[in-house]
Amino acid sequence: MRLSLSAPSPRRMSLIAGAVVTGLVVAACGGGGGAKETKNVEVFSWWTEGGEKAGLDGLVTTFKKENPDYKFVNAAVAGGAGANAKNVLASRLQSGDPPSSFQAHAGGELADYIKAGQLQDLTSLFEEEGWNDVFPKGVVDLLTHEGKIYSVPANVHRGNLVWANPDVLKKAGISEVPDSIDAWIADMKKLKAKGVKTPLAVATDWTQVHLLETVLIADLGPEAYSGLWNGETDWTSSEVTTALNHYKTLLSFTNTDRSGIDWPDAVKYVTDGRAAYNVMGDWTAGSFKDQGLEQDRDWVWFPVPGTDGVFDFLADSFTLPVGAPNEAGAKAWLKTVGSAEGQQAFNTKKGSIPVRTDAEAADYDAYQQAAMEAFGKDAIVPSLAHGAAASVGWLTDVTSAVGEFGSGQDVAKLQQALADAADKHAG
Ligand code: GAL
Repeated sequence: MRLSLSAPSPRRMSLIAGAVVTGLVVAACGGGGGAKETKNVEVFSWWTEGGEKAGLDGLVTTFKKENPDYKFVNAAVAGGAGANAKNVLASRLQSGDPPSSFQAHAGGELADYIKAGQLQDLTSLFEEEGWNDVFPKGVVDLLTHEGKIYSVPANVHRGNLVWANPDVLKKAGISEVPDSIDAWIADMKKLKAKGVKTPLAVATDWTQVHLLETVLIADLGPEAYSGLWNGETDWTSSEVTTALNHYKTLLSFTNTDRSGIDWPDAVKYVTDGRAAYNVMGDWTAGSFKDQGLEQDRDWVWFPVPGTDGVFDFLADSFTLPVGAPNEAGAKAWLKTVGSAEGQQAFNTKKGSIPVRTDAEAADYDAYQQAAMEAFGKDAIVPSLAHGAAASVGWLTDVTSAVGEFGSGQDVAKLQQALADAADKHAG
């Protein structure tokens, strides 16, 4: 397939505050036992800047319009993929200090909170709001445990994407989208030969896990990749070894400051022209929009080579924690999250697509329309780095093995650590 480096072609192939609760706390009138009631709705996330913050702001504006009596309190903790936020949240939940609502990924990560008894059942809210008719069943299943639904989905993101700088590619004479990891590595060699020091930009450990999961999808295919999470695929197989060797080679084309930077810095490598490629989810499209950068002129995208036709899925959702302050306010927030207006205000900025099937594609940009189309027809696989595939404990073990690999580069050791993590956590 051709990269449209000058004239964009249709569809995708255009490679073609942590805030403190400062607001007022109102004493309840008529509340029993001296209980205090607050008008604050404290929402915990990790969206603090760029397109992520813009998306959150879109939701907040909708919420405020619909709920002028409540005060939104932003309890976001900076750090991509919740790398810092999840620890802060865990200690808050542990010490009985939950926010009114917190962000969690659909799938394995959410199941952790459910199993720990930290979330309230939202099944009746789903019934009242008619959400079972507008959210895809597959997504609702990832929010459900023993027949009860525990969170409200805000979006669907896709993880297996390469974001590239068209000028850098053009200068190296690259005009085709590579169709395999080997073909992509050949292009990285061309880029190096043309003096591009960092063909592929990457950032801290979680972004390396993100890269690795996409290489596993490419080399194993969607079915065997999905089997890694349900015990059907053997982590010690030669296919996994091939993927890990590919991953090692890819890492050799990356920036040496990787462990000290977060995902927006890796994206900046690409937009600055210091790197050709970055692998990241489509919150990158939201970040480009926030910066006024345009598809085809400033950036191009394509699925990670070898993963065309596969949608590496993740979804952000919001919860009602047990003991949530201002439960009525929290439910009002959740209603905004699930509403047509809230999803539009959020997703048009965030780069993700709405979960609601009644959304209008025309409200979204070219990249997002392509993502909607892909979500409708691709093979869907769960993201590891973003909570869909596995529990937090499993992801933590994988992340430390991948972090260690970054310095030691020992493929056999990494494969053993990944197999051990699966033995420990699967099922
Ligand atoms: C993901 C999250 C996205 C985006 C990204 C980078 O885990 O689902 O919404 O925020 O992290 O921070």
